[in-house]
Amino acid sequence: MHSLLNDTDWRIEESGFDISTANVLETLLTVGNGYLGTRGTLEEGFKGERSGTYLNGVFDGHDSPVIDQVNAPDWLSVVVHANGVRLDVQTCQILSHRRALDMRQGVLWRETLFADAQGRQTRIETLRFASYAEQRLCVLRVSVTALNYAGDITVESAIDGRRFNLDRFPVYLDPPQFAPEVKWEKWAKSLHLRQVAATTAPESLYLEMQTIGTGIRLGYAATTLPSVEPLRNIDLRSHERVAERMEFALAQGASVVADKFVAICTSRDMPAEEVEDQCHTILARHTAMGFEAALAANREVWLEKWADCDVVVSGDAAATQAARFSIYHLLIAANGNDPKANIGAKSLSGEGYRGHVFWDTEIFMLPFYIYTQPDVAKALLLYRYNTLPGARRNASANGFRGAQYAWESADTGLETTPKWTPDGKHRIWTGEEEIHVSADVAYGVLTYVAATADIEFMDDFGAEILFETSRFWVSRLKHDPARNCFVLTQVIGPDEFHEHVDNNAFTNRMAQWHLVQAARIYDEMAAHNPAALARITARIGLDATEPRHWASVANEIFIPFDADRGLVEQFENYFTLTDVPVTEWDANDMPCYPPGYDHFNLNGTQLLKQPDVIMLTYILPDEFSKAAKRANYTYYEPRTLHKSSLSPAIHSIMGIEVGDTTRALQYFRRSALADLSNNQGNTQDGMHIASAAGTWQALVFGFGGFRLKHGQMSFNPWLPPDWSELRFGLRWRGNRLSVRISHAEMSFVLSGPSGTQETVRVGERTVVLNAGRPSSAALRMES
Ligand code: BGC
Repeated sequence: MHSLLNDTDWRIEESGFDISTANVLETLLTVGNGYLGTRGTLEEGFKGERSGTYLNGVFDGHDSPVIDQVNAPDWLSVVVHANGVRLDVQTCQILSHRRALDMRQGVLWRETLFADAQGRQTRIETLRFASYAEQRLCVLRVSVTALNYAGDITVESAIDGRRFNLDRFPVYLDPPQFAPEVKWEKWAKSLHLRQVAATTAPESLYLEMQTIGTGIRLGYAATTLPSVEPLRNIDLRSHERVAERMEFALAQGASVVADKFVAICTSRDMPAEEVEDQCHTILARHTAMGFEAALAANREVWLEKWADCDVVVSGDAAATQAARFSIYHLLIAANGNDPKANIGAKSLSGEGYRGHVFWDTEIFMLPFYIYTQPDVAKALLLYRYNTLPGARRNASANGFRGAQYAWESADTGLETTPKWTPDGKHRIWTGEEEIHVSADVAYGVLTYVAATADIEFMDDFGAEILFETSRFWVSRLKHDPARNCFVLTQVIGPDEFHEHVDNNAFTNRMAQWHLVQAARIYDEMAAHNPAALARITARIGLDATEPRHWASVANEIFIPFDADRGLVEQFENYFTLTDVPVTEWDANDMPCYPPGYDHFNLNGTQLLKQPDVIMLTYILPDEFSKAAKRANYTYYEPRTLHKSSLSPAIHSIMGIEVGDTTRALQYFRRSALADLSNNQGNTQDGMHIASAAGTWQALVFGFGGFRLKHGQMSFNPWLPPDWSELRFGLRWRGNRLSVRISHAEMSFVLSGPSGTQETVRVGERTVVLNAGRPSSAALRMES
């Protein structure tokens, strides 16, 4: 199986088993296809594992304070016994253990050499994938070789519905220090599943579970096909678990190979009564075609995806690997076929943040999809459209008009932010106060339409989002008669160290921009598609005077600004707070909290968790001059602790824009290695998927210098001296653009129907691109 793998620059590898990093590896080695994700746990499990399969959009709130992305039944489980000894990393001696995630074809390979107390050596080799060609299919090949003995081998292949989600963290040690084998057992757990059906018919196993609160049926049908006829084959059924056990007698040196196929369907996608039949149909089709056919079909889809989104850094293999790692995880995080599912903050690779959806989607992840797979971007935005009813309920529950997107959103769009930290010690206010998310969603809609020219999406869905959220803003904004302006009080900006602040510049400026854009779209629709506009206005009862009101309120929103220094003030009175210097950095080169400070007592200081004003100058590039960007970067960068993984990539991008290239490179590495080196210390909870997307943005928008300026593609690249070339692809208005940047030149190939023409800006020049003909522009980079 090893020979099936691509070169090492397409791989993430593990060598040896170490329990202290095993849960981090489980996250990194997740396989998936947007419909589901399965953590990279060993097939047989181990004490201390944190295994999980997450089905996109399957949430349940039973037994937990807020709704969870359900830790769904396990399809992977295969346990091998050799002469009665269980082959696992704790029962046996491990002579060698290697795994490789092949990112090019989305498969995880493993080889472990076990020895028992009698010195009998058995090799287990496996290959697993969640098929991208048939998203409801998971496949696992297991090969068992009796290396230096002849003996009895049993292979037990199961579907296990006995799952739970982590709920609350125990508070009896501070800081808690638990042995890795038991640390998850210390948590309080939430039960989300109950059994509906369990059968062990001769040709396949079937288990159906149902989420207790939301009532979603999850059906799993499985067959395990051995390469040699077993001596005995026993079906095992227990509560919430079905299995088949096969017994073989192996000669010395002989192997048995078993191919496990699992079909997974849910009543989210089909009527509940069809789930079982569909599982059997998919399973029968793929078992008939066999392992090689499933693998080839999966590979083909992966190759197509990579053709659109690979990023290569010549001269820095680690950067290429980190880029591919980020892209791989983005590719398995989103389901372009499901307009009712989105991407949780930890994707489908772990339970951190309970699978909830944040602003991370529109501001961090969406650009990757918009510019490489616009159909996936559209599905992600349709989730926002489909959760508008929830957003309307949030607004009215809070006493406002229109629609207010949840800071943390799940299946319905209702606000799902927990009120307390998992240890129960600290109140979380973001659900009440981090309101900028509604403008971020609008920003996502507008960026998608600008890059794709998908006007139909705007007419059918986007405009309604913009209008309803505009109504929220004008009812949330208060008129301050003393200053004759509109204010937003009691908010949290992107920097979550500061709660209950007034007039956060990011929030106010984004709300202002949002209102102006919504009024513009209204006018454009009135001119170009009055019928679509009439439909929306009828549906939401929009009065023709409202858009004028949005535009006039926008004009009068207060934005705190220190004109003498050219600095946007992060929020009112921020500059009066204590200016505490950062004096220490940790082993990963990340700033430490100054002595005496932690996440919860920084309200009175100028220290930031993550960029706030710098973020604003990045996402609204047309609205700030170069001098303003530089002044604000210079002020806020040294005060930022990067305690969110979302932070470094933005500093990398803006560092390049303002000429702080040394730090920009350092920030790029911090972002690129967030999970690969676990530099936030919590990769075991799942991928920092926004940071992965930030890494892609740092390559394309930072080093590639790409911005959408006044609706046009513009590039201002900079490469570090030892990067000889940066290559990436972009999708633009239905066509593909491949981009190459060296120190001397930037070149483009536009593909699309002949006659297609585009213009882009490179620095101060305009370059005309004609489909099928390469174009280039000379560059002069400062080092
Ligand atoms: C960050 C937020 C982010 C959330 C989920 C928090 O730590 O401060 O900006 O949305 O994590 O990734």
